Amino acid sequence: MMRTPIAAANWKMNGNLALIETFAKHAWPQGNVEKIFGLPAIYLNKAHEMGLKILAAEDVSAHESGAHTGEISATMLKEVGVTYAIIGHSERRTDHGENEELLIEKWKQLKSQGLKVIYCIGESLQEYEAGKCDEAVLRQMKPVLDAGLVDAETVIAYEPVWAIGTGKAATAEYAQQVHAKIRALLQGNVADVSDKIRILYGGSVKPDNAAELFVGADIDGFLVGGASLQADVFDKIVGAMV
Ligand code: PGA
Repeated sequence: MMRTPIAAANWKMNGNLALIETFAKHAWPQGNVEKIFGLPAIYLNKAHEMGLKILAAEDVSAHESGAHTGEISATMLKEVGVTYAIIGHSERRTDHGENEELLIEKWKQLKSQGLKVIYCIGESLQEYEAGKCDEAVLRQMKPVLDAGLVDAETVIAYEPVWAIGTGKAATAEYAQQVHAKIRALLQGNVADVSDKIRILYGGSVKPDNAAELFVGADIDGFLVGGASLQADVFDKIVGAMV
């Protein structure tokens, strides 16, 4: 089964208009890699106008519209040219107490607008040290599987929390092991689409470890934070996947 690999940038709360312009002007290689740019919501419209493709929001409201000050709806994201939304990133789970119940509502909003989901999961350092990675993955995956939300276009981003922004990426072997377990979980629940779903690894992906990680049969690309903030560095990660 050939899955189109993904290199997804996650700028988090970084960047500015000048960086958007640099990225929009960068000659991204065509190739077989789907390049996705996850940007702060306030820059998405501009990025779209400048021709940067493909865009992802870093979050979305769980509500359709109405009295929810500060929130941004799936309809709004769609209107400004967004294709994907990252939901359930560990920073949102930690900083904003986001849980599966809420993420299911966000996912439903995205689905109703035909936006694609990059659903982030991953064990904490404590869970990792206690050997509870499988439990964490199951806790985060089961509710969305039971809710019938996972389809062929779903992208899962496995990001062990201890590897995010620490410079300590998971080993290629460990990442592939977990990805294979996630694939098996998908096979057991959504068998008809399980080989189409892209499973990304995230956590300290850099140009010098991307090629090695990408070897894993169930590693379909990356969600990249720090190394996605410079066009030439992110481009090298894309290059490691071609
Ligand atoms: P990092 O972040 O590449 O800086 O570790 C990854 C992420 O949080 O998506």
